[in-house]
Amino acid sequence: MPKTDTRLVAIDVGSAKVAVLIVERTEIDGEPGLKVVGAGRAPNRGTLKGHIVNVDATVKALRRATEEAEAMAGTEISRAYVGVGGSDVRSANSHGTAYIDNGDGGVTRADIDLVLNAARDVPLPPDREILQAIPQEFAVDDHGGIADPQRMLGSRLEAKVHLVMGHAPRTRTLVRCLNQAGVEATEVVFEPLATAQAVLLRDERELGVLMLEIGSGTCGFAFFHQSEVQHSGVLPFGASHFTADLASVLRTSFAGAETLKLRHGSCLPGLVDGDQGVAVPSVGGGASRTIARARLAEILQARAEEMFHLVQVELEKAGCAEQLRGGIVLSGGGSKLAGLPELAQQFFSCDARYGVPLGFTSEIHQGLADPTWSTAAGLVRYAVAMEQARSPLVRQGRARGMRGMVGSLRQMFSDLL
Ligand SMILES: Nc1ncnc2c1ncn2[C@@H]1O[C@H](COP(=O)(O)OP(=O)(O)O)[C@@H](O)[C@H]1O
Ligand SMILES: [Mg+2]
Repeated sequence: MPKTDTRLVAIDVGSAKVAVLIVERTEIDGEPGLKVVGAGRAPNRGTLKGHIVNVDATVKALRRATEEAEAMAGTEISRAYVGVGGSDVRSANSHGTAYIDNGDGGVTRADIDLVLNAARDVPLPPDREILQAIPQEFAVDDHGGIADPQRMLGSRLEAKVHLVMGHAPRTRTLVRCLNQAGVEATEVVFEPLATAQAVLLRDERELGVLMLEIGSGTCGFAFFHQSEVQHSGVLPFGASHFTADLASVLRTSFAGAETLKLRHGSCLPGLVDGDQGVAVPSVGGGASRTIARARLAEILQARAEEMFHLVQVELEKAGCAEQLRGGIVLSGGGSKLAGLPELAQQFFSCDARYGVPLGFTSEIHQGLADPTWSTAAGLVRYAVAMEQARSPLVRQGRARGMRGMVGSLRQMFSDLL
């Protein structure tokens, strides 16, 4: 098979599965598009709550998923954008200032590099590193809300930046797993921010929207307002905790509880048929018991509300709780629990909808319109933005170095969808 880098590859190492997407950029009637030419997924038994706990098992899942995608695309994957989404990733908003002395030339790219570097210059605990720095806005001489300050006249340039900080050794472990599976990491990207790119609409980001990505062991979140990311993070709870609650309360196995959840689960007890009974398998092969389906829903509702409460606390800490005019978008496999958007709507008093990847075409993979593909799809969007920033045309014209990468990322967060 030819080794080629012309196609873009994204790898989502989730706690339930590894998902791989290979895409080609297309143009239909002058409109740029993304066409999926390869997709692969494999169950991952090597990652828990977003952290790798077994290198061999993670490598095995990576190999299986990449091989499946490679076979579909007829391409061998050599490099990929990879997501990181452990609950130890932290975000913070930072601020930088630089003094400009260019006479009538105004703000230059070098000034922007300087101010962004100043905003990145925060004290970090040992083993921490900045994974991403996303400009939110610039100000020139106290006049804020500027997306691109180049050539503006003034003496003081300020930048507000959203920083994402990861645990360096854990990120290196992820990259090592990828290498052992024969793939180099082009870049490691924070998963909730990637997912947001695949599922949010421009108007929602402008109004104020919360994206929740409920994976197996974690719940990633990202809040956008005035088109910019204001807060992001990962909580150490996910869909598997719903299952664990059922197993514990109903005294059944985890596997039995998972089947119950997938077949009969809902988090709105009021909406399930009160008389309907479901069989709960007993541990050890004894006779199964029957419980009301509404009881199942009560247990799942309690966990969903706890998760929403923890997210609300995060929003309140960041001062964003009152800004949900664009509503809530739920993604990740856990979002498929029946009734979750309705419950979110009641809990947060705003609109809520499912988020599936938007704007992809595929002749080979019709199943992409599913929330478990959102992170891989968002990583692809990130990859497209980064490759554009790296292309010689863009570099000559308007972007270079860190400003190029970060500027392009900011533009991606503002322009896509
Ligand atoms: N219909 C459903 N109802 C509730 N949970 C679901 C449903 N379908 C899938 N899930 C849950 O989604 C999780 C997997 O989601 P996914 O986003 O693929 O996880 P990860 O990103 O951690 O790999 C599983 O824990 C599974 O229980
Ligand atoms: Mg995930």
